Amino acid sequence: MRYTGFTPHSKQRDMINSILSSDALYHVACVGRQFGKSLMGINLALYWAINNNGVKVLWISPIYAQTSKVQKEIMAAIGASGLVKSCNYSENNITLKNGSEIIFRSAEKYDNIRGLTCQFGILDESAFMKSDAWTEAIRPIFLTASNKTGIKPKILFTSTPKGKNWFYDLFQLGNSPDHPNYKSYTGSSYDTPYIDTASIEDAKRTLPTNVFQQEYLAKFIDSGGEVFTNLERLQTKPTQKSPYFIGVDFGKSNDWTVAIVQDWDGNIVDWYRDQKSEWTQMIDHIAQLAKKWNATVMCEVNGVGDPLFEDLRRKYYNTYPFITTNKSKQEIIEGLILDVNNQEIGLPPRAEFPAIWSEMETFTYDYNPNTRSIKYSHPPGLHDDTVIALAIVNYNRKQKRSSGYAVIGGMR
Ligand SMILES: Nc1ncnc2c1ncn2[C@@H]1O[C@H](COP(=O)(O)OP(=O)(O)OP(=O)(O)O)[C@@H](O)[C@H]1O
Ligand SMILES: [Mg+2]
Repeated sequence: MRYTGFTPHSKQRDMINSILSSDALYHVACVGRQFGKSLMGINLALYWAINNNGVKVLWISPIYAQTSKVQKEIMAAIGASGLVKSCNYSENNITLKNGSEIIFRSAEKYDNIRGLTCQFGILDESAFMKSDAWTEAIRPIFLTASNKTGIKPKILFTSTPKGKNWFYDLFQLGNSPDHPNYKSYTGSSYDTPYIDTASIEDAKRTLPTNVFQQEYLAKFIDSGGEVFTNLERLQTKPTQKSPYFIGVDFGKSNDWTVAIVQDWDGNIVDWYRDQKSEWTQMIDHIAQLAKKWNATVMCEVNGVGDPLFEDLRRKYYNTYPFITTNKSKQEIIEGLILDVNNQEIGLPPRAEFPAIWSEMETFTYDYNPNTRSIKYSHPPGLHDDTVIALAIVNYNRKQKRSSGYAVIGGMR
């Protein structure tokens, strides 16, 4: 029998047709998140194993948890089909009745891969594997394979890019007419009908531009890591509009204490930044600033009963807490990214408030491909208190603009 598998969407179909009909050994698919990379790889693995007798197909994921998930997904798809002879979750393989075997390995312990001989390979999320895993352990597996069976081996690399690493080099080979043994393919998250465009658009608005381009459009970006770009466009307007808001980030240990005053339209109109004074002096200073602008103050707290917050509130009653957690911080930073991109924030001239410029320019993120999560931070040795104070005041202002108050974290 011939196995036809799932119904690919049109971009998957183009890639699969090309991979199956081409003579190239290496097929490099650089595609965006949720495109259906893994599903396409699973189906090609099955296609190769079922439609050829006695071949070995090697599936490799960056980490072990991913390989065992794929093995389970494959068994869910074909376990009841009558094709499977045995499935072993400790040796991580599935043997079919036609003598073919699908072998699952992770690239994190690539020494375990050495010594295999396989005709077909799928390296899912290749950009997240070490280049040594490919060159030293995985690549040799396919070099002797054709001698054994007469079948021409094929290897599929699928991944969302991760900067310009070895996956980028492979992808370039696949685009070069001088390397007919390599073929490259591209696809973005917009190409799959299985995720709705609204969720991609939402990601586009709230992610740093280069993260969006890499993750969703599958672009190879230089890893500058900037979160905020095109800041020059953000000019504070000469007119100021009440009411006013303040965001406070108290600097613990070596950090700075920063309070930023924003007007109703998002313009930064005043600020206070101090690292050296006693807490009581800093709190007095912030209370003065709040009175001057008759502002609603929102102040970072790390938990219930934060003494600095309580002291400030005693001096200036219109003060509310913003409870910082990774999640709440992420939300207000994303809100700030959105407003920076939409030019709904006004920054004072660089010479007047240099800290906000330098901190926004260097503010960066760590992207974790396994959890698909972003953690925002400042580079080592630099600060981000000004950015956090701005994110808090901006959140404070937008809460008021949209409907009165609802504090993230629920403490009031
Ligand atoms: N041709 C298809 N038919 C049905 N569902 C599909 C198809 N292609 C993709 N999907 C669905 O889209 C979702 C994403 O697929 P998959 O996990 O394979 O994508 P991916 O590119 O590997 O994603 P990630 O970037 O998260 O690793 C899954 O729910 C999958 O079932
Ligand atoms: Mg995947």
